[in-house]
Amino acid sequence: MDRKIQHIGVFTSGGDAPGMNACIRAVVRSALNADLMISGIGSGYQGMLEGDFVSLGTSDVSNIIQRGGTILKASRCEEFKTSAGMQKAYDNLRQKGIDALIAIGGDGTFRGANEFISKFNFPVIGIPGTIDNDMYGTDFTIGYDTAINTVVEAVDKIRDTAEAHNRLFIIEVMGKDAGFIALRSGIAVGAEAVLIPETKTHVDELIAYLQRRGENKNSSSIIIVAEGDDAGGALEIAAKVKEHYVDYDTRVSILGHMQRGGAPTCMDRVLASRLGVGAVTALLEGKTNEMIGIIHRDISFTPFEKACKHHKNINKHLLNIVETLSG
Ligand code: F6P
Repeated sequence: MDRKIQHIGVFTSGGDAPGMNACIRAVVRSALNADLMISGIGSGYQGMLEGDFVSLGTSDVSNIIQRGGTILKASRCEEFKTSAGMQKAYDNLRQKGIDALIAIGGDGTFRGANEFISKFNFPVIGIPGTIDNDMYGTDFTIGYDTAINTVVEAVDKIRDTAEAHNRLFIIEVMGKDAGFIALRSGIAVGAEAVLIPETKTHVDELIAYLQRRGENKNSSSIIIVAEGDDAGGALEIAAKVKEHYVDYDTRVSILGHMQRGGAPTCMDRVLASRLGVGAVTALLEGKTNEMIGIIHRDISFTPFEKACKHHKNINKHLLNIVETLSG
């Protein structure tokens, strides 16, 4: 496609992630540097349907690099999935003169974009923004590093009180389909076990292991469980453990949405800035229907269809490390 792009629309969609603002800033400023017009679209696809567009200048994105959330707001929009919804979105974009899009979000966002492109041949580049880090085609997604650091800070505090009372804490972290948050933060807090959706959880083995630890007079234990684990979330796992192992004083802590907020880490700000600049360049080079990412430190592009279809694999070495290092 060699039509010249003049006006980019940028939006954030799905669950928000720390670093989305840094990314919006990068997209806006690099578009303006290239003499393009840039509009923010409010609340993702919902804003496209409602014509919620605002022209952005360089000062509109001042002092947002350090803020969590997203100044453009985010949503999950069912109406956009319908033919009529997509047509409405397309008509609104054309009316506003927007001729290309940058979508910041996760797999749901890119599935929508992929369908929109196939209907209207509209240029779209995607930027992976989700705390879950579950996008194929990039080593890291925007928000993941901040989320795992938030988990580590919270669990370190829980460890203090767990240790003081010789307790077992079962701590649930986000990740309804993926265990990336659980695995990496689990290693960092020295968790005794990490339970994730990608591997089968054997609660009986977990109980046997906790019993062995009890006999060794280890005083506290931390189990990190991803919310989508096949054996259930923290409450279910705790109920099963308590049923079989009454001696241990067990508590549950569900970290929840605190994992999605807060100031982005340096890693996330830099990642967001690189991907934002790269996405504008990609549109100008005529790329479309692809997600930009970072693989082995370099910018890479993956077609939306592939990024959504393929499952990013858990690093088995990290799982082994949990086992090796748990006492
Ligand atoms: O996709 C990011 C995520 O934070 C998941 O880890 C979590 O399961 C989900 O969003 C929660 O979504 P909501 O904010 O709609 O409850």
